[in-house]
Amino acid sequence: MLKMFNLAKMLTIFIYLTSICCFFVTSQNVLSRDILPQNVSSLNTPPQDMSPQDIWYIYEEPIEGLKLHDTLTLKDGTLMIWMTLDDEEDPSCILPYFYLRLIERTGRITYINLNYTFPLEAVCPIDMTFIPLSYNYIMVIYVKSNNGVKGKYGLIINYDSEIISEIYLGDVNDDIIISGRLEKGFIRIEEYDKKGITAWHWFSAPDITTGKVVELESGEFSVPNLSSYTFVNSFNFNLIDGGFGYAYILKYDEMGSSVSNNPNIQYWKIYVSFLREGTYSPTTPSLVYQTTTKLNSLAFKSCFYNIAGYICIVSLNNTITNMDQSRTEVNYYQLEFLTTGSFVQFGMVPKEISNAEDFDLSSLVYGGFLVRKQYTNTTALNFYILDNNGNYKSKVSFGPEFFHYNMFRRNGTLVGIKKQTGNKLEILLKPLLRLNNQGVEYDNPAIESTKPAINEVIDPLINEITIKYGIPVRLSTANVSIFQLNDDPYKPSLLRQTIAGDSKLCTIGSDNHTVHIPIFGSTFNQPNSSYHVVVDNNFVISQERNEPLLGINEKTWIISTKPFKTGQHSVSVTGLLRLNDEGSSKFLQTNHQSEFFNNVIQEFSKIIPVNEQRITTNGKWQYDPTSPKKVLLSFTINEAKSAMEPSSKIIFDNLGTLIERKGFTALSNNEYSSLIDESASFTMTSYFGNFLPIIIIFLVSIIILTILYFLAHWKNPEARNIAIFETALIMQDFAVDLTFTLLRVNNAQHLIIPNMVFLVVPHVVNFLLAINILLSEVATNPTFYTWFSELPALLSICTIFSAINILGVNTLTSNLFGFKIFSAPLSQRSRNIILWGSFINIFAEDVPQLIIQILYFNSVVTYDLIPSLVLISGGLVIMYKLILRSYQALTRWCHRRDEIRNFIRDRRLSAGSIRSLRSNI
Ligand SMILES: *[C@@H]1O[C@H](CO)[C@@H](O)[C@H](O)[C@H]1NC(C)=O
Ligand SMILES: *[C@@H]1O[C@H](CO)[C@@H](O)[C@H](O)[C@H]1NC(C)=O
Ligand SMILES: *[C@@H]1O[C@H](CO)[C@@H](O)[C@H](O)[C@H]1NC(C)=O
Ligand SMILES: *[C@@H]1O[C@H](CO)[C@@H](O)[C@H](O)[C@H]1NC(C)=O
Ligand SMILES: *[C@@H]1O[C@H](CO)[C@@H](O)[C@H](O)[C@H]1NC(C)=O
Ligand SMILES: *[C@@H]1O[C@H](CO)[C@@H](O)[C@H](O)[C@H]1NC(C)=O
Ligand SMILES: *[C@@H]1O[C@H](CO)[C@@H](O)[C@H](O)[C@H]1NC(C)=O
Repeated sequence: MLKMFNLAKMLTIFIYLTSICCFFVTSQNVLSRDILPQNVSSLNTPPQDMSPQDIWYIYEEPIEGLKLHDTLTLKDGTLMIWMTLDDEEDPSCILPYFYLRLIERTGRITYINLNYTFPLEAVCPIDMTFIPLSYNYIMVIYVKSNNGVKGKYGLIINYDSEIISEIYLGDVNDDIIISGRLEKGFIRIEEYDKKGITAWHWFSAPDITTGKVVELESGEFSVPNLSSYTFVNSFNFNLIDGGFGYAYILKYDEMGSSVSNNPNIQYWKIYVSFLREGTYSPTTPSLVYQTTTKLNSLAFKSCFYNIAGYICIVSLNNTITNMDQSRTEVNYYQLEFLTTGSFVQFGMVPKEISNAEDFDLSSLVYGGFLVRKQYTNTTALNFYILDNNGNYKSKVSFGPEFFHYNMFRRNGTLVGIKKQTGNKLEILLKPLLRLNNQGVEYDNPAIESTKPAINEVIDPLINEITIKYGIPVRLSTANVSIFQLNDDPYKPSLLRQTIAGDSKLCTIGSDNHTVHIPIFGSTFNQPNSSYHVVVDNNFVISQERNEPLLGINEKTWIISTKPFKTGQHSVSVTGLLRLNDEGSSKFLQTNHQSEFFNNVIQEFSKIIPVNEQRITTNGKWQYDPTSPKKVLLSFTINEAKSAMEPSSKIIFDNLGTLIERKGFTALSNNEYSSLIDESASFTMTSYFGNFLPIIIIFLVSIIILTILYFLAHWKNPEARNIAIFETALIMQDFAVDLTFTLLRVNNAQHLIIPNMVFLVVPHVVNFLLAINILLSEVATNPTFYTWFSELPALLSICTIFSAINILGVNTLTSNLFGFKIFSAPLSQRSRNIILWGSFINIFAEDVPQLIIQILYFNSVVTYDLIPSLVLISGGLVIMYKLILRSYQALTRWCHRRDEIRNFIRDRRLSAGSIRSLRSNI
């Protein structure tokens, strides 16, 4: 039933980008409230306290009766609203269901309505909360009694309201803290014992597909072992690099009064220790503060990262005795230190700030502090911005109708929500004054610029991108990753490459500010697509302080590729890739090798990305001769069906790059593709895989022709047996030309028409010439007529055949095998036509065809069998014709000269020989 509401995804958000008064644009601290009339406040008019940069919208809850309970902001700009149903009978309780609304930066809303009834202990009174986990998972943390023992439990759910699992989270008083990087999981910190020893348990982020959370490691935070100091309290906070900080407050043990008067005694000490992924062992506690003042108490209020390190707000409760008068005062200080354990500074928060009944202080990413003050005499909240020295800079007010506040820390935007009326929540986002405007587009004050810039359209062949920081930096361990945005904004991005800062692939320029990140050939391989570069926190550290720096969030640094042409066509390509040891033994053990192949193909098609039909396999495999335990698998990249698709060569090269860079690409994140051995390259075995039959036919025909030729030569040495050979050559040339026209020329669109013209026109002309010869022979040559009337059927076949080349007619005259059919008595005129016709053929057909082949060769990448046959046979034909024709012309010329010589010598000139001489000219 609850799922029904998922469907009710009516547009419930109205974003009003307001532009009220132009003259406020320049100054953020001039508040429109002072000027606008106070009485306009209905649901559909924006609140008065709006300045032009503010964003105001209304969220309408589809489920009747749900009330806002709490909110949470994510660094990607999502606002999470936890809605509850009030328990009518007991106002301190809620009904045992869980409703969460996720309003993304784009305005998209995800509704989580959990079909789960929480136990009474969790909801009456409310003892329940939730934390975001990575990859669209959430953990609802609640209290449950098990056999009478109350414990903390975590219910892991996903954005589709599905329950994944429940885990035990220890005692009700244990702290659950999410990592500063969600993909690093969360930590449970147990309550400290009397000696101050605290156990921690580090849990993984949910597995991206199964949602399983496991405990990665556990250990203890132990108090520095100092005699005469006792542990008082502790405070924990998360670090931007994904680790955790743990602060210990120690107090001097006043056992005897004698020592207590020693002015050099440090009464209070603060130590910090850091726990990080990888080592999973807290650092030795470092002393960051100590004081000789006998304070009543010392406590931590909050800790925040700022570009300089970590700033914690601590309160010092001190009783000052002055001339018998004593007064107790509480002062707030900012304690700044680095995660290396070094102390930076300790400064007092100005009294004017801390004198409110309720105040809160946090450090801002762009420098300075945000102070929230609330007075009991009014519902309005005031926010003040102070610079790093505590000087007042600006004030932000929300009107009295607001009752819930939150903040997008990363870009310094306050969220105010008005008191709920009916099912409507009015939400106002107010950007805070930034003390520093560097890197605003990146939500990162440490970054000066990047290349390519945000929203730049890039050449897909770039081989590096760069990030310029405002301060000298050093490479660290976290990753920089490039993703292709999915066209469907609801689907996850596709990982193209990910490189750790210290992987040796990234380099720092000589200025120490610029990081160069190499780009693989397979990374930007889709035309007209958007990509985003994600830089993890701690990709670089500051050179001066060794403190990790913030990165760049998802979908911030977006770049796109030009709508480039997919390139030259290429035919199917087959290649071999090698499996590593693990993969080889898996492959050899499986009973379903074809399934194994299919799984690899499916993963390839996702990762490259390319249509699944483009990759096939014949299922062949072999042991690698150079590494006999490993297995080589054969895959074929099929040729593109249209010019829109990438060519098989491009896909082949992309896959080759992905394999070579396996450790840095999505190949290593997938079950089957991670079994590929990246130390062996993806090698091409043939272009011809699909053309084996054609190769065989061609070879066989060559052999038959050769045999025929020698047969002819042997049987009848006097015959003009050369004719059969040339006819065979011409026939074969025609056959490959035709094959090329039918199967290949489409790959080079611009050659289709020229190819047609030079295929059809010469043959039509040839055909006409052949008809002409035969008709005129029949009409004028009685011997031919006699010969012809005996074999009419064969002759018509030969005429058609002659269309292929006029030389075909020659065959009829060849006397081949002494057969009658090959002894046509052609007149000299016809012989001349044939001679010159075939000469002209060279330039009207053979040479253009050769040129077309050369052009084709230049416009495709993988040049395969058919066009190479065409090229070879075209060349052969031309050579053959030129040599033979020249030879024939020469012999004819010699023959005529001899005749003339003879004539001159004999001086016996007959009329017949004159006629014959003339017709020879
Ligand atoms: C809620 O879960 C119960 C059992 O777990 C199931 O029977 C019921 O159909 C579910 N309701 C909805 C609306 O999915
Ligand atoms: C800060 O982030 C929020 C949430 O994504 C967004 O709505 C707001 O416009 C951003 N503010 C600025 C000044 O960029
Ligand atoms: C400061 O300490 C004194 C003595 O321990 C205590 O009575 C007082 O309540 C404390 N003040 C605050 C604001 O915590
Ligand atoms: C509320 O109290 C503060 C200090 O206690 C005072 O400065 C302010 O004027 C009061 N505001 C109103 C509206 O009374
Ligand atoms: C970098 O990415 C790799 C692969 O995705 C991952 O295993 C590793 O934990 C990441 N490193 C950090 C510091 O996040
Ligand atoms: C860059 O840093 C190195 C030390 O890491 C230093 O020797 C060099 O002088 C620095 N270069 C510049 C231009 O600051
Ligand atoms: C590029 O993509 C955009 C949006 O995805 C589309 O509107 C446009 O037609 C595409 N351009 C080309 C040349 O494909």
